[in-house]
Parts: sequence; structure tokens; C-alpha cells
Amino acid sequence: PDLAEVLSLHDFEHLANQIMSRKGWAYYSSGADDEITMRENTLAFQRIWFRPRVLRNVKTVDYSTTLLGAKTSMPIYITGTALGKLGHKEGEVLLTRAAGKHDVIQMIPTLASCSLDEMLDAAVPGQTQWLQLYVNANRSLTQKIIEKAETRGVKALFITVDAPQLGRREKDMRMKFDDPGSKVQEKNVVERGQGAARAISSFIDSSLSWEDLAWFKTVTKLPILLKGVQCYEDVLLAIKAGMQGVVLSNHGGRQLEFARSGIEVLVEVVSELKKRNMWPVPNFEIMIDGGVRRASDVLKAVALGATAVGIGRPFLYAMSTYGQEGVEQAMQILKDEFEMNLRLIGAPKLSDIGPEMVDAKSVGLH
Ligand code: FNR
Repeated sequence: PDLAEVLSLHDFEHLANQIMSRKGWAYYSSGADDEITMRENTLAFQRIWFRPRVLRNVKTVDYSTTLLGAKTSMPIYITGTALGKLGHKEGEVLLTRAAGKHDVIQMIPTLASCSLDEMLDAAVPGQTQWLQLYVNANRSLTQKIIEKAETRGVKALFITVDAPQLGRREKDMRMKFDDPGSKVQEKNVVERGQGAARAISSFIDSSLSWEDLAWFKTVTKLPILLKGVQCYEDVLLAIKAGMQGVVLSNHGGRQLEFARSGIEVLVEVVSELKKRNMWPVPNFEIMIDGGVRRASDVLKAVALGATAVGIGRPFLYAMSTYGQEGVEQAMQILKDEFEMNLRLIGAPKLSDIGPEMVDAKSVGLH
């Protein structure tokens, strides 16, 4: 169909299922085991309701924000997802260009199909990019990637901490991995018989621990955040380790089955920090990702204390179906949804939304 007829992020998913290669679809759409956590990510948002306010002069609304010091058009970012060329032959640079047009932050994945340079070159001046980092057991390789990113203007590092071993994504494992167009940075691709995820991830250091975080601070001045934190105890450790934030995430339901949704963990984290008089935490941002398909989902997370929300699959599906224009359309849809939702909630700007504007009993808010 004509791109103008695509009205929601869900539409891209339905279309992607129809037109993508079976391998690409299996890699993007799969979750771990029985995909219960993956489904819960979306369902958790559907159990949270708004408590809107009326008569608040919402003639003009503003959903722009600042993330880790960088101004951006809305409180979302493109999260890091591997293997963009399984969806579109040009790969992640299409996400970069769409992000540049819409002033959205892109988190560059370690395991992109495009090279780091290609994604950095595709950015417009002043465009903000972050780097998702899988830590190689060979630290000098990891150090090289960090140094290159920092020199070339990447603004933050997100160390993925929820994948010391890859989850079982059975749809993907049934496929054999061949991705001829790919320039995956990490060359030690093995185990081609067990799907894309296993083929590309064998270098990840499963011995990584809290003690290692000090080393990262010696090799870079960039803010460092941990992606994949899942309980308040680890948020306290991240603060103590001098991190600049966390992403409460279960990797889109692709890692530990029965991990809780990011939004539910967010409620736990904020309430434990408040109990300790630690909220808000200075120079520390709490983001979440997983299952976000509407601006209303994002606003629920913002109300509950997140500074931003990462979106993964919907942008991949938009890219796979309509290329860069699809991703731009997905971003425009989100912007239109933000505008309408802020008006109907009665919040002229993001800072006007707080926990009193949601009924989140289902995820533990009392
Ligand atoms: C991911 N994700 C991910 N995370 C990460 O830290 N490194 C990676 O290489 C990848 N790769 C990846 C590939 C694909 C196809 C998907 C769907 C996801 C996880 C990603 O950053 C994020 O946590 C989830 O995608 C968020 O959930 P939604 O928005 O896809 O529901």
C-alpha cells in the first residue's frame, strides 16, 4: 500500500511479515523460548491507564526534550538492533538518515550490518548518535571501537549487560545464517547452522562483571550507561559504579524468558530510590525499552520517571518495508501521536506529566 495509508507502527509490522525474507522476519520478530516476556512488554503498557486533567490550555504542546545533554525532538530513540541488512539492502544508514531528518537520537549497534564509519558518515552535522557496546573478551578490540566512536563524536556508550549468553530464539535458530551484505565489525562469526543471533554473538565476554566497569572509565570520557538492567539493586550498583544511567530492558524479550517488562521494573526502581531519598538521581538517566508501539506508551514511561524510551522492531519493520521514507513516516506518526496525547492528557509539555497522571496499579504503583 501507499505509505500514506500506513497509520500506526503496528501497520509496518503486518506488512513486514508479508514481504520480508523468512530469515529476516525470523531474526527480527523472534523472542526467547515461548515469547512470554516479549508479549508481556506490550501487554504491560496496556494495563496502565491515564488520569488526564482538563482545562489546561493545551493550544500549543511541546514534546521535545534533552537526553544526556543533547536536545532532541521527542523522548524516544532508535535503540541498537543488529543486522539491518536482513531487512533492507542498505541497512542501518537508512535509520541514521531518517533520524537526522526528524532530530531523533540513534543508538548504533556493535553488530550493525553497516560499518561504524558508514553510520557516522550518514549523519548530518550536529546529529546525536550513541553506541551500543557488546564487550569483546579481547578488550583491545573493544577499546578501539570506543576510541573511534569518541573521536568521531558519538555522545554516549551503552554497555549491553543482559546478554552473557544469547537467549533461545527458536524461530531464528531454525534458519541458517548467511548475510552476504553484512560488514559486521566482529569477524569471528561461527555456528552458521543456528540462526543469525548465534552466528554473530560468540565473541561476547560472559566473564564481564561490576569490577570491569572502572576500566571503561579509564579508556573514555563519554557517559557510560548499562543497557539491560532489570531490578533496583542493580540500579543502585550502577549509581555506585559512576554510570550515567541505565536502560531498564529485557532486550525485547529475546534474552531471559520471564524477565519483567521495563515499565514494571521502572516503577520498582523509582519507588526504591524515593524510599532512600535518592530520587531524582543527579546526572543519572533512567530509560526503558521493549514493546513500545505508541506515543501513549512513551508518555506512561515518562510519567513514571523515564527520561526516554527506546524503540527497536517498529523502526526495523518500517525500514524493511519502505526504506528511509518508512522510518521517517514512523517518526512522523509518533510525533502526531505525542501532540494529540499531550493535549488529551492535559499536559502542555513533558515536564507537566507525573505519576499522578497515570493509574499504574497493575505494575505496582501505589
Ligand atoms: C535487538 N536488541 C539488541 N540489543 C543490544 O543491546 N544489542 C543488539 O545487537 C541487539 N540486537 C537486536 C536485534 C533485533 C532484531 C531486535 C528486535 C532487538 C534489543 C534492542 O536494543 C531493544 O532492547 C529491543 O528491541 C526493544 O524492544 P522492541 O522495541 O523491539 O519491542
